[in-house]
Amino acid sequence: MIGGGWSRRVAEIQPFHVMEVINAVKRLEAQGRHIIRLEVGEPDFPTPPPVLAAAHQSLERDQTRYTAAMGVAELRQAVADWYRRQYNVRIDPARIVITPGTSGAFLLAFGILLDPGDRVAISDPGYPCYPNMIRLLGGEPVPVAVGPEHDYQLSPKLLKPAVEKGLKAALVTSPSNPTGTLISDAAMAEVITLVEGHGGYVISDEIYHGITYERPARTALEFSQEAIVINGFSKFFAMTGWRLGWIIVPPSALRHVESLQQNLFISAPTLSQYAALAAFQCEESLKQQVQAFDRNRIFLVEQLRRLGFIIPVMPTGAFYVYADASQILQRTGHPDTRSFCADLLEHSGVAVTPGLDFGQHKARQHLRFSFATTMENVQEGVARLTAHLQGFPAPTSNSTGRGAKKLSPARGGEKDSTR
Ligand SMILES: Cc1ncc(COP(=O)(O)O)c(C=O)c1O
Repeated sequence: MIGGGWSRRVAEIQPFHVMEVINAVKRLEAQGRHIIRLEVGEPDFPTPPPVLAAAHQSLERDQTRYTAAMGVAELRQAVADWYRRQYNVRIDPARIVITPGTSGAFLLAFGILLDPGDRVAISDPGYPCYPNMIRLLGGEPVPVAVGPEHDYQLSPKLLKPAVEKGLKAALVTSPSNPTGTLISDAAMAEVITLVEGHGGYVISDEIYHGITYERPARTALEFSQEAIVINGFSKFFAMTGWRLGWIIVPPSALRHVESLQQNLFISAPTLSQYAALAAFQCEESLKQQVQAFDRNRIFLVEQLRRLGFIIPVMPTGAFYVYADASQILQRTGHPDTRSFCADLLEHSGVAVTPGLDFGQHKARQHLRFSFATTMENVQEGVARLTAHLQGFPAPTSNSTGRGAKKLSPARGGEKDSTR
C-alpha cells in the first residue's frame, strides 16, 4: 500500500493543554490585555551577560560549523569539573555527551535503551514529554501514581509491581516538574538498587538542579555509576532558547550514544556550546536569582493556602507549586481545573497550567503555578486570583458548593484584567 496517512505513533502523541492557555494569552494580549503569566516553565530573566559575551566572541571567531558529535571537548571537561565541584563526583569527560537541550538527551537515552514494547516507569504527575517520547520510540510508558505521602516521587514500594512485570528503566525527576519536590536520599538509593537489581536502568532528569531551597539535590551518579543522568543549561543557567543539555552514560553505552547523536543531530548547536563555556562562571549571580525565587515560593504557597488551595508538600525545588484545587472547584462550580484555568485567564488575566498536562492521577483537580518571575508579578497574580474568587460564594462549613452560582456577573477580577 502507498500512503495511508500519518503514523499511528504520532497520532498517539498528546498535545500540551497549556498550549490552549498560551494561545488564549496571545489572543488576549493582542486585544491589549495585560496577562500575569504563571503558566510558563522557564526563568523570567535573561541569559547571564558573560554567556552573551562568549557567544559574540565565538561568532567573531567564525565558530559556526558542526562540532564533534559528542560535543566541544572544553565544554565536556567543564561539565565534568562541575560534577566534581557540586557533588564531589569524578566523571570521565568521555562519558559526557553534549546534546540539543535535555530534550535531545532524552531521545538519545530512550533510543539506546528501548526495543519495541520495553516498559519505562514514570511518575504521574510528571513531565508530559516523557511518555510521548517513549511511545514515539516504540516503548511503553508505565505511569506510577505518586502522591504527597511520597513527596510525589517514585519509591521502591510504588515501583515494585511495575518492576515485577518487567521494566527496562525508571525515570526519576528531582526536583520534579510539576510538583517542585525532591526525592529523599533513601528513596533514590532504594529505587536504584531495586531497578538495577532487576537488570534495568535508572534515568535521572536533573534539569532543575541548582534551583533548590532547603537542601541541594544529589545526582544519581552519587549512588550508581550505571545511572543515566540528564541535565542542561535551560533552567538554572537560564538558557532555554540556546537548546543545550548533556547526558552522562555508562561507558558501555558510549558507542551507541555517539552513533545515535551523529544520526539524529550530528552535533549540538555550536554557538551555544561555546557560549555555555562561560555559564559556569556565573554561579554566584544565578544563586541570587534562586534566592529571589525562594521569596516568591514562600509568598505564593502561603497565599494559595489562604485562598483554599491544598498544598500538602512544600515544594523545595524548581519553580512550581502543584496545588490541589478541589475546594476551589466546589466553590466555583467548575468541573475541572482546565475549565477553571480558562475562566481565570479570560476574566481575571492570570495564566496557570491545568493539571491534565501532567498525567491522569487526580489531574483534573490540580493545577500548576510557576513562580519563575518577579515578586511584583506573583503579587499581582495573587491579587487578581483573590479578586476572582471573591466573585463566588465564600465556602461555608456545611455547603458542598458544587454547582455554585456566581454572585455577580461583574467580578472583582475584571477590573485588573483590562490593565
Ligand atoms: C522536567 C523537565 N525535563 C526536561 C525539560 C526540557 O528541557 P530542555 O529545555 O533542556 O529541553 C523540561 C522543560 O520544561 C522539564 O521541565
